[in-house]
Amino acid sequence: MRVLGIETSCDETGVAIYDSEKGLLGDALYSQVKMHAEYGGVVPELASRDHVRKLLPLLDETFAKAGLEKGDVDAVAYTSGPGLIGALMVGASTGRSMAMAWGKPAIGVHHMEGHLLAPMLEENPPEFPFVALLVSGGHTQLVQVDGIGHYTLLGESLDDAAGEAFDKAAKMMGLDYPGGPLIAKHAAMGDRTRFRFPRPMTDRPGMDFSFSGLKTFTLNTANSHRDEAGTLDKQTICDIAAAFEEAVVDTLAIKCRRALQHTGFKQLVIAGGVSANQRLRERLDVMVQKERAELFYARPEFCTDNGAMIAFAGCQRLKAGLHDDLTIVTKPRWPL
Ligand code: KG4
Ligand code: ZN
Repeated sequence: MRVLGIETSCDETGVAIYDSEKGLLGDALYSQVKMHAEYGGVVPELASRDHVRKLLPLLDETFAKAGLEKGDVDAVAYTSGPGLIGALMVGASTGRSMAMAWGKPAIGVHHMEGHLLAPMLEENPPEFPFVALLVSGGHTQLVQVDGIGHYTLLGESLDDAAGEAFDKAAKMMGLDYPGGPLIAKHAAMGDRTRFRFPRPMTDRPGMDFSFSGLKTFTLNTANSHRDEAGTLDKQTICDIAAAFEEAVVDTLAIKCRRALQHTGFKQLVIAGGVSANQRLRERLDVMVQKERAELFYARPEFCTDNGAMIAFAGCQRLKAGLHDDLTIVTKPRWPL
């Protein structure tokens, strides 16, 4: 079975074709990050317009890479939510129209389902059941995954998502958007012992998260070290970034450990933009060894938004006989 996948939920236009026998046949990705960086965050209207500009050329490129004629797929999968409504509509209406023209089924995929299955695109993929930590710009969730479509929420953030906290902390220190990779870069040059940030909600049972307090802590620490002009010296930025990253990573690791113990599962999957974080991977590697469990993640370009994860999730849904009727449905808010 061969499925075309389209991702346009936020600021990346992603297209890919996944074949259940041969794996990924071709993929193409365009990131709007540079355009939005100027505004310090994603501007929804600009995002939609850029998806319109980029989607058809990327479709051309993907079919060419796969060596296929247009329409030579069994279904078209597209991200139908959650995300920015205008951005979602671009992928949904293009995907649905192509499916209709080609007489093939269309499959609306949950963006976070795409993320959580993305590590299955790698060699030595995890097998069901597993625990998944979804950490992106919009979500922080611990999920018990028993199979395709069988997801039980174990815990989630009560306020900011982990990626959002990275982005906001970066902004407070004058670093560009998206802040996650820049915090990580500065943290690598920082002294992890100069500041100690709290590990929110780890002193009580449960698997929920809260990152808004850490944000305030970051702001207060930054403000108390600014010079008269309001700027921070480079080393202080690195040290705050290190303390912040350490606190987030530690908190995530504690909750992941609880989720493994709670389910008795021996496989932990991390997915979403923040799963690209090197420190998080190192810290979780140590934790899973102690738990005699295994850690799985996607290659860096498939941690952040991409079309391959949507093509893959669509293919699994098609195999399971799950696809939609003809209405174009986009859900800006949609629980997994
Ligand atoms: O999954 P994603 O591309 O988009 C959403 O679905 O939200 O995640 C983007 C988020 C951003 O908040 C970005 O700062 C964060 O992932 N991110 C990272 C890293 N790379 C991306 N956060 C920490 N460390 C990284 N290396
Ligand atoms: Zn995402």
